[in-house]
Amino acid sequence: MQTKSQICPIRWQDNALFLLDQRRLPAEETWLRLDNAPEVAEAIRNMVVRGAPAIGFAAAFGVVLSVLRHGSAAGWRNLVDSDIETLAAARPTAVNLAWSLGRMTKLLAAESDDLARSLLDEAQDQLKTDREQNLRMGQAGAELIEKGSKVMTHCNAGALATAGYGTALAVIRVGHGQKKIEQVFVGETRPWFQGSRLTAWELAKDGIPVTLLADSAAAQAMQKVGINWLIVGADRIAANGDVANKIGTYALAIAARHHGAKVMVVAPHATVDMSISDGSGIPIEERSANEILDAAGIENCLPEITIANPAFDITPAALIDFIVTEKGVFRAPFEGAFSRLKPGKMT
Ligand code: MRU
Repeated sequence: MQTKSQICPIRWQDNALFLLDQRRLPAEETWLRLDNAPEVAEAIRNMVVRGAPAIGFAAAFGVVLSVLRHGSAAGWRNLVDSDIETLAAARPTAVNLAWSLGRMTKLLAAESDDLARSLLDEAQDQLKTDREQNLRMGQAGAELIEKGSKVMTHCNAGALATAGYGTALAVIRVGHGQKKIEQVFVGETRPWFQGSRLTAWELAKDGIPVTLLADSAAAQAMQKVGINWLIVGADRIAANGDVANKIGTYALAIAARHHGAKVMVVAPHATVDMSISDGSGIPIEERSANEILDAAGIENCLPEITIANPAFDITPAALIDFIVTEKGVFRAPFEGAFSRLKPGKMT
């Protein structure tokens, strides 16, 4: 694959988990060392690590830390199960968290001789497999793009949200490497600024031309600039193809449809949750009002104002043209399309 970016926000070293602190980017590249599962859960809640696949992988290493800490204690299994519950509850929308933890729980039940070793191998394998899958999705998605395309993305579905390359950003990286993408447009993605702080940083590092917009400028850019593609990641995809992704994705998909831009969602097949028939069943995380009140360290409104801060929204399947997974490209309509995916299996 033609890409320079080798960023991976998660590292295991000296029996500890190291996370690139995404709250501090792009100003500082700081790594935090975590030594136990509750610290990992806290880091997921606080967005030290974020992005659907990445929070799953961090949680998987959290289970390793839990077994290293409690493995020889009496009643260790209860202590580890309680850590797993804490990790699973850290953020509710992305199904990848439950998926990664499900793989770890299966191994715990197998009770191998060196449990910590086999759990660590599984967590490392999740990282490695994710990078391979992202490369595959990048190639598959880029095949759909025409030469000279102007692309819009939202939030960060890049290397920082995964084990490397990203999902939506893998498509953009490959497409740019193939000289098909002329310009990438990204909204700030308030209130966390994943677009301006993370995606613009990743793209600039790879020398991919990026224009940053205020979120509210997106429809106008589609109207004036002529965006060809909206390419985003996903936190959970319902069986009918409805997609949960960063708040604002729904509005972008509506604007894209109005302006004739195609919508591509890029996500590993583990993001498809066949137990949920449509988007109305996907839990949407509501985050603290403080994130809106003092976004970017500035007091934005009177503290007594009622604030709603949903972190994700649901884009109806009817607004999506393609869902790209590592197992193939799904083209709308999506009803019944995912039945060939086997949840829980990674190839
Ligand atoms: O709140 P975040 O930053 O975790 O939200 C991330 C997103 O919405 C991403 O688009 C999604 O997780 C896909 S990441 C490959």
